[in-house]
Amino acid sequence: MPTVRFQGRATICKPGTALRDALLDAGMTPHHTAVSILNCHGLGTCGTCAVQVDGAADATSPPTARERWRLGLPPHRRDAGLRLACQCRINGDVEVRKHRGVWGQGAPDAGASESGIR
Ligand code: FES
Repeated sequence: MPTVRFQGRATICKPGTALRDALLDAGMTPHHTAVSILNCHGLGTCGTCAVQVDGAADATSPPTARERWRLGLPPHRRDAGLRLACQCRINGDVEVRKHRGVWGQGAPDAGASESGIR
């Protein structure tokens, strides 16, 4: 079972689980507080669930077409290397970081793993 580490916590999920679902099921969220309710709820259109996902190359599914499309729109930059938690499926152990900004488009939030979402 893959382990997802986020903000100083860890949860396990079935292989193939969407990262957003794994986090929500564990009482965590890939969304900043401002958009924790007002988001597309996993349709891959709002872009607010963008996160940095580190792990082995095969630990996540390849980016979907919708994910590539959304992460190519401002305020995101396609070269930022972020993933949409609602589109990214987990197949192995990963470390997840939320960046600053409503869409998670900013710099990595160094304190997020210690103190929660900002
Ligand atoms: S929840 Fe809107 S893009 Fe992922």
